[in-house]
Amino acid sequence: MSANLASFLYLVSGVLFIMALRGLSHPTTSRKGNLYGMVGMAIAIVTTLIYATPSFNGFVLILAGLAIGGGAGAVIAKRIAMTAMPQLVAAFHSLVGLAAVMVAAAALYAPESFGIGVVGDIHAQALVEMSLGVAIGAITFTGSVIAFLKLDGRMSGKPILLPMRHVVNAGLAIGLVVLIVLLVTTQSHTIFWLIVLLSLVLGVLIIVPIGGADMPVVVSMLNSYSGWAAAGIGFTLGNLALIITGALVGSSGAILSYIMCKGMNRSFISVILGGFGGETAAATDDGIERTVKQGSADDAAYLMMNAQKVIIVPGYGMAVAQAQHALREMADKLKEAGVEVKYAIHPVAGRMPGHMNVLLAEAQVPYDEVFELEDINSEFAQADVAYVIGANDVTNPSARDDKSSPIYGMPILDVDKARTCLFVKRSLGSGYAGIDNTLFYKDGTMMLLGDAKKMTEEIVKAMDH
Ligand code: TAP
Repeated sequence: MSANLASFLYLVSGVLFIMALRGLSHPTTSRKGNLYGMVGMAIAIVTTLIYATPSFNGFVLILAGLAIGGGAGAVIAKRIAMTAMPQLVAAFHSLVGLAAVMVAAAALYAPESFGIGVVGDIHAQALVEMSLGVAIGAITFTGSVIAFLKLDGRMSGKPILLPMRHVVNAGLAIGLVVLIVLLVTTQSHTIFWLIVLLSLVLGVLIIVPIGGADMPVVVSMLNSYSGWAAAGIGFTLGNLALIITGALVGSSGAILSYIMCKGMNRSFISVILGGFGGETAAATDDGIERTVKQGSADDAAYLMMNAQKVIIVPGYGMAVAQAQHALREMADKLKEAGVEVKYAIHPVAGRMPGHMNVLLAEAQVPYDEVFELEDINSEFAQADVAYVIGANDVTNPSARDDKSSPIYGMPILDVDKARTCLFVKRSLGSGYAGIDNTLFYKDGTMMLLGDAKKMTEEIVKAMDH
């Protein structure tokens, strides 16, 4: 295969990846988007195998790698619970980071194989690309490992705030730049490994100060880093497809992080620099005895059947309980009775972007009943019932009213403005951010304590009476 043909095919796969991203931007086109992505990836892999594989042995090694890695990936993806997806994504990002470090090391020790010079006389441009790839890769690796440990509950989700961390991080970043200049000028292997070491430490330091509530942005940010690391590998390997894909992942991850920051009212710049959040004091128990109104499935069925408008607010608990099918059944019953039903989705409801949309789509909830926060928030004031199912932080009025709350400023769904707020969860415990929800104690709130699926099924049954 000629170099021109290979470049052309890589370009085709790049265009397909862009079409994939476009398709994935809406549930109705997402299947097509996935298909474009798969075809693009197939073209990129076959082109690389035919064009860039030097020998039969290399070919066999690549196929073996594909079989082992692909096999392991398929088994893990099949087994993983939907609720554990964020930590899986974080774990996979760490591998991309590690791969970037390995490729850069291989290029340093055997530059001839990469066509970038000989040992001791590597082209300066290649050295710059290599050092950027290795630095971003190593930061992504340890950062993702810490994110995995926090999300998987193997490490506390509480922010670990080291003294003078911003100064230390800035010092390390400056140190990195100096080392990169030294590597380009001296080509010393020791300096290369010092860059790796410093970047590994920086990756840990950037992520440990970040608390549980801010983790979603971290995962998306690491996604972006892993893209840039892959683009770095692409430059080292001279592989156009990898450069395009890496840049796409890097920039789309950055855009997603930005959107999520807006969703949580966080500063994008402080996220990129690491260690944002966690500065405000956590809400403390004020010791005041508060009363909670508790209701039954019958009460809920009665209230909703006599309503004109019901807005459903799903959250992480719905995903855990797999209550989406029962929920749709309940909505169908309400619609049959002439009640207007809408779903309100907060941008960070659940544990990853789009989590709720995917589950509702799986239960065949019509897309035109599902609304984003900014499109529906003003409607709660006219709703008779807000049915909050397994959501907590995204409804917490402290984010709006209490300046000392760690989630202050995060936009919330104004469920407290509905005439009645039905709140389905198993206890009065807190949500992911670990803070109390004042909504439980408000006059218009009725707690339906129990498993989301069971409670919704009971309500459906009660609606038949
Ligand atoms: P959360 O605030 O985590 O609240 C979920 C609630 O569901 C919990 O309070 C829990 O209360 C309840 N629950 C759990 N299992 C249940 C079950 N089987 N039946 C009924 N209820 C159940 O969820 P949210 O409102 O969706 O907010 C999302 C939070 O996660 C935010 O803090 C967000 O920052 C964070 N986060 C989001 C993402 C993204 S990108 N979406 C990623 C990671 C983290 P009980 O234990 O009392 O039942």
